[in-house]
Amino acid sequence: MACNILNPILVFLSFQFSAVVGYKQPNVIFILTDDQGYRDVGYHGALFDTPVIDKLAAEGVKLENYYVQTRCSPTRSQLMTGRYQIRTGLQHGVFTDSIPSCLPTDEITLAQKMKEAGYSTHLVGKWHLGYYDEACLPNNRGFDSFLGLYLGVATHYSHRSIPPLVDGYDFHRNYLPAFEYNGTYSTHVFTDEAIDIIKNKTEDKPLFLYLSYQAPHSPLEVPDEYKEPLRGIFTDENRLSYAAMVSCLDEGIGKVVDALKETGIYEDTIIIFSSDNGGAVGSDVIQGGAGNNWPLRGFKFSLFEGGIRAVGFVHSPLLSGNVKGTINNRLIHVSDWFPTIVEGIAGWNTNGTKPLDGINQWNTIKYGTRSSRLELLHNINPLNVVSGGRDWIVNMSLFDVSIEAAIRYRNWKLLTGNTGQTGWIAPPDSGLTTINGQSSPTDQIVWLYNVRKDPLEMNDLSEAYPMVVKFLLTKLYNYHNQSVSVFFPAPQREQADPCLNGNDCVFDPWVPVP
Ligand SMILES: *[C@@H]1O[C@H](CO)[C@@H](O)[C@H](O)[C@H]1NC(C)=O
Ligand SMILES: *[C@@H]1O[C@H](CO)[C@@H](O)[C@H](O)[C@H]1NC(C)=O
Ligand SMILES: *[C@@H]1O[C@H](CO)[C@@H](O)[C@H](O)[C@H]1NC(C)=O
Repeated sequence: MACNILNPILVFLSFQFSAVVGYKQPNVIFILTDDQGYRDVGYHGALFDTPVIDKLAAEGVKLENYYVQTRCSPTRSQLMTGRYQIRTGLQHGVFTDSIPSCLPTDEITLAQKMKEAGYSTHLVGKWHLGYYDEACLPNNRGFDSFLGLYLGVATHYSHRSIPPLVDGYDFHRNYLPAFEYNGTYSTHVFTDEAIDIIKNKTEDKPLFLYLSYQAPHSPLEVPDEYKEPLRGIFTDENRLSYAAMVSCLDEGIGKVVDALKETGIYEDTIIIFSSDNGGAVGSDVIQGGAGNNWPLRGFKFSLFEGGIRAVGFVHSPLLSGNVKGTINNRLIHVSDWFPTIVEGIAGWNTNGTKPLDGINQWNTIKYGTRSSRLELLHNINPLNVVSGGRDWIVNMSLFDVSIEAAIRYRNWKLLTGNTGQTGWIAPPDSGLTTINGQSSPTDQIVWLYNVRKDPLEMNDLSEAYPMVVKFLLTKLYNYHNQSVSVFFPAPQREQADPCLNGNDCVFDPWVPVP
């Protein structure tokens, strides 16, 4: 600001308040929910209400062409690094309880950059980027404070892992087990901690709070009081519990926003909301859930839209007036948050990182200008391959279409290999009818959609547009050539087992066997 240059006192003051001279760095609250499906929010037509989320979104910018990854760790890895999984070796699966692997420690994280930019940095909730080595833990990846779970799934009250995972307590404050939360519901713990952090904020540093709720991930546990008001709506008990979990989450987010207002920092705060992948479906207590992505195709784990198209919005008094209350239809991806937050919001730089796949979308979000993202690699997973396929497409390019992969270019989306969950699953108690997705020929391993005209992925165009197929396969081939090898080592249950290692049954880093 020009006036600052003329006024040495202001220059001095602004230097005190910000690592970036002359710019007041906004606080950033990044809320990530776990397994919340596209349909699982009031404003996308859920049968239950999410009044807080709906209001925040309605007053902010709804991101309606917004993508994440198919499951937990991959989305979190891209949020933390701004880089695709093909760069980090994380193309396959998630960090399980006993896998000797984590987000590669030579990657610079979002939290590290925010700390460097002058922020205080806090992770509240689920980490799920590996813990086998001390260097992998959140406090060693840029967070000043951490309260929550290392793993991807645990009970919501007793904070224990779930069979067949090795048994153990998974709740820590920084490096130490936090037994005092045994018996307290996860969403309540995380909400209260977020409020404490907001109330503790000091004048000298802006706040970066990554509020990574464990809800509404399975197991479907929730205090009864949240179920009661919904009983008339649902006959499906799982959907009832799930909806109640989202209600509790919605209430928690409301309390966090109240705390921002009470402490007077709301005006300088940007709230970003995202789900981490599509809603999970089915009775498996670890992999399943009662989420819903209707009318999108597929669910968690799938590269069809139901697995990757997320609920997302940005809310802030700092958005320009003309975008408040609007829908942003630009292509935006979870990897974009890294440069968007570090450069766009914090006014800092991404120096020192490896080449980013994310794009700074701050002007796109704040002013509604064009996004420079035309292309999005959803993933290439060479450990998931199928056999067969129709010859004319198999021989069309150098890319091996038996590999599970998907890519987006402008409105086109191409999928190859085993795409996973394929149906259109109706929300329980909605009266709508699930549509089975097995209508396509069984030897089909390449699909092409125009997802702008056909967001439900009903009309495969691969036969009609062979040149587009070829163009996108060539892109996949090029990405595949740049990929690092998948790193997915065998689990080491005995080494990791917290009850076998004199560790009080608490999950902690272990000494892996080479
Ligand atoms: C948590 O509390 C339950 C019930 O009091 C108790 O059985 C369990 O041992 C506690 N867990 C830990 C890790 O302290
Ligand atoms: C808030 O500050 C107090 C006093 O410094 C400290 O004891 C407490 O741990 C802080 N709480 C959080 C959540 O950071
Ligand atoms: C970041 O890199 C740019 C371009 O290389 C350079 O101009 C700038 O001074 C660097 N900033 C910092 C803080 O190191």
